[in-house]
Amino acid sequence: MSTNREIVMSGIRPTGYLHLGNYFGAMRNYVKMQDEYDCYFMVADLHSLTTHPDTKELRENVKRVFAENIACGLDPEKVAFYCQSHVHETSELYLYLNMMAYKGELEKTTTFKDKVRQQPDNVNAGLLTYPVLQTADIILHRAKYVPVGKDQEQHLEMARNFVNRFNHRYGEVFPEPFAFNFGGELVKVPSLDGTGKMSKSENQNATIYLADDDEVIRKKIMKAKTDQGPAEPNTPKPDYIENIFQLMRLVSDASTIEKFEADYNNCVIRYGDMKKQLGEDMAKFIAPISEKAAFIQNDEVYLRKVMEQGAEKARASAAKTMELVRAAMGLNYF
Ligand code: TYM
Repeated sequence: MSTNREIVMSGIRPTGYLHLGNYFGAMRNYVKMQDEYDCYFMVADLHSLTTHPDTKELRENVKRVFAENIACGLDPEKVAFYCQSHVHETSELYLYLNMMAYKGELEKTTTFKDKVRQQPDNVNAGLLTYPVLQTADIILHRAKYVPVGKDQEQHLEMARNFVNRFNHRYGEVFPEPFAFNFGGELVKVPSLDGTGKMSKSENQNATIYLADDDEVIRKKIMKAKTDQGPAEPNTPKPDYIENIFQLMRLVSDASTIEKFEADYNNCVIRYGDMKKQLGEDMAKFIAPISEKAAFIQNDEVYLRKVMEQGAEKARASAAKTMELVRAAMGLNYF
């Protein structure tokens, strides 16, 4: 891959079906960045073992994540699109970085505290050092930009801390990586029930998956929480109503959004009509992606070729970085 372009890296865990949050927080950015940057995108199968030790569904999930990304427009010829476990240098760098990560800071990480609550019987060390592995993924390619959703902001902050610690101790090897979104602000796609965000494994009825068919999409959207509508003109919107508008802004055209904004402000909004329109626009948006993804997922020969080519490109970049790392750390003895 060319060496004079800025470097981009990101990843997605294969823990279930991809959804609108993954698309608008991450994949849409991948596709936009692939022409201008040197991009490394991967399927984070090692990270998924921290929460999903049972690997029965892993193979299908990994293939689906590959297929869905390609269906969304990611071009494996333009980027390195690979599987995390195929690049062993990741694990080596993770080990070195673990010597620079402190128990106290890892225990304070929001995602770690959430997982401790969700899986009290499996608070494993991999969960604790999750942000260290994520840092290894990113800096293995000396990436500067990391397209992610808002939920990953803290992990990126930690990555910068680890990078600065490494550079301070052993000399400048890594640039500081930053979370990135076209349009500035990082995105959080809300769930349909107004509690939290869309997610692969929680909140399935309030999450729209890229594999959902038209009927399922319409039904999920019709169930989204609404109320009687505002009684006074120009009332601020409650969170769950703002969420519906937010989803509409992602997939509907400007005139549709303007109409419902005006209806809301004039207290004549009919949420049933709004949700029906959103259901149609959402189904129209997702149908071509899900059809294409299903087709690609069945093409084992193609997927295997993509994975092998991606791993080769990623290993070449990783090998260069690891030479610098070992030299900087004084691990070369002759
Ligand atoms: P993961 O698999 O949870 O999510 C993949 C990407 O989707 C984004 N995302 C969202 N964005 C907006 N709204 C939502 N509701 C929403 N849900 C998910 C995530 O921010 C992410 O960009 N730790 C990472 C995987 C990872 C990684 C990396 C990311 C491993 N190594 C290196 C970047 C760089 C994760 O769990 O993502």
